[in-house]
Amino acid sequence: MTRIGIVAEQEGETRVSATPATAAKLQDLGYEVVVERGAGERSAFPDTAYAEAGALLVSGDEAWAAPIVLKVDAPTDAEIARLADGATVVGLLSPALRPELRAALATRGITALAMDAVPRISRAQSLDVLSSMANIAGYRAVVEAAHEFGRFFTGQVTAAGKVPPAKVLVAGAGVAGLAAIGAASSMGAIVRATDPRPEVADQVKSIGGSYLAVEVEEQMVSSDGYAKATSEAYDARAAEIYSEQAADVDIVITTAQIPGRAAPRLLTAADVASMKSGSVIIDMAASSGGNVEGSVAGERIVTENGVIILGYTDLAGRLPTQASQLYGTNLVNLMKLLTPGKDGEMVLDFDDIVQRSVTIVRDGAETWPPPPVQVSAAPVAAAVEVVAPEPKRAMGKGTKLALGVLGGAALIAIVAIAPAPLPQHFTVLALSIVIGFYVIGKVAHALHTPLMSVTNAISGIIVVGAMLQLSSSNLVVQILAGIAVLVASINIFGGFAVTRRMLRMFSKGDQR
Ligand code: NAI
Repeated sequence: MTRIGIVAEQEGETRVSATPATAAKLQDLGYEVVVERGAGERSAFPDTAYAEAGALLVSGDEAWAAPIVLKVDAPTDAEIARLADGATVVGLLSPALRPELRAALATRGITALAMDAVPRISRAQSLDVLSSMANIAGYRAVVEAAHEFGRFFTGQVTAAGKVPPAKVLVAGAGVAGLAAIGAASSMGAIVRATDPRPEVADQVKSIGGSYLAVEVEEQMVSSDGYAKATSEAYDARAAEIYSEQAADVDIVITTAQIPGRAAPRLLTAADVASMKSGSVIIDMAASSGGNVEGSVAGERIVTENGVIILGYTDLAGRLPTQASQLYGTNLVNLMKLLTPGKDGEMVLDFDDIVQRSVTIVRDGAETWPPPPVQVSAAPVAAAVEVVAPEPKRAMGKGTKLALGVLGGAALIAIVAIAPAPLPQHFTVLALSIVIGFYVIGKVAHALHTPLMSVTNAISGIIVVGAMLQLSSSNLVVQILAGIAVLVASINIFGGFAVTRRMLRMFSKGDQR
């Protein structure tokens, strides 16, 4: 049984590499988990919770001596010295930017796995730390903006006057951008977003934002899940849009990035100067050069015209409990991949593109960079002609009245002429259609499927009727009744099963 060490992070890092819940999951994979005392304190996970989850609380030296050490931040030189010979260390290692760290790790048979080198392919989504952290950071960017902003996000009509909604511009609708759009629009702001990848337009709209298309000839299609550098024509048109928007919006959140390059400059000093006093800018790319002129990594700046620019680089760490939970789960998913036998034995398979990509040092030898991963993240362009929808023609009042009168007259005629018991049956049918029409018409579209599957229970009536017919002396009637019972039962039980599944999607379970 191999030991996994969960070590305390350096001062300033609030996250921890395992929560009590993920420590238990690591044990389920056959590992023994040891946790350095106090490691989870800053993310609100006390030692007692780890002990209850079956982990062993140990000293720092003992945790660092484990054959596998899980970390959040890259180890310092002093920490690398604490690793056992031949140990495996996992963390956010920024391999592309830190050749000196790769060299320091390539020693004493050490193996180093970089969680921030997980390729952005569907199969690796469950270990994609950059996405899980960017998602938190995007949400937190909105919280920080709301904290600095002197007004409501949502518009209100109050006795003391009318309050307009805040206008938010999100530049770059990747993982962080989409999280920011979702958070800001759920707080009631008017949200607009830009991104050179036109395929994100639908995603932006689906979470309440409006997409500002930068109309130029070229189409941006990514081959690896990330954006490519934009053209001059694009940048020129985008610059005009940013200048117009800067003067209009109250909050700007920039998340634009192109991997391996400095962050693209989107807002100039002139754009910032045109913003209203009290406006807030969050430059999420501040650590890689900044999308906004004048932002400083890790700092809060107030410009001469009263615009607040936040260049915080620790946004995910500002929600440490959530961030640790998602980071810890990403690590569990990595360990699942590395433990095919679920027997506490780690096996590194270089034929697997995910395992190959994250490995930057193997057995003391550098293995960076990995071969490129070519998986198109762009949806295949649909060869469908878009036809403008025909305007709906509402039924006029006169037509409605005429139809109502006609229907009523037909009903009275049938009831008067038809032999019993047809009139009673017909009246029941007509009434159920009217009631059904109004009940279903008032239910939101999204809930039609569960509603319909519940109403399938009406099949119950068929079952009862068919059961009565089963005792008939006529064999044909018996067979038909048997089929009716079977088919209606499938409808009933299937309907309830579908309803249950769908309702479970709407319930807020215990997330921890
Ligand atoms: P992502 O790659 O998913 O999204 C970046 C988006 O920017 C893409 O949709 C891309 O198409 C877009 N983009 C590229 N060039 C653009 C341009 N010229 N104009 C407008 N959009 C452009 O990246 P993710 O994971 O959403 O991260 C976004 C940024 O947030 C990164 O810079 C990342 O380092 C940063 N980040 C910051 C944190 C913090 O604490 N400040 C925490 C986590 C992420």
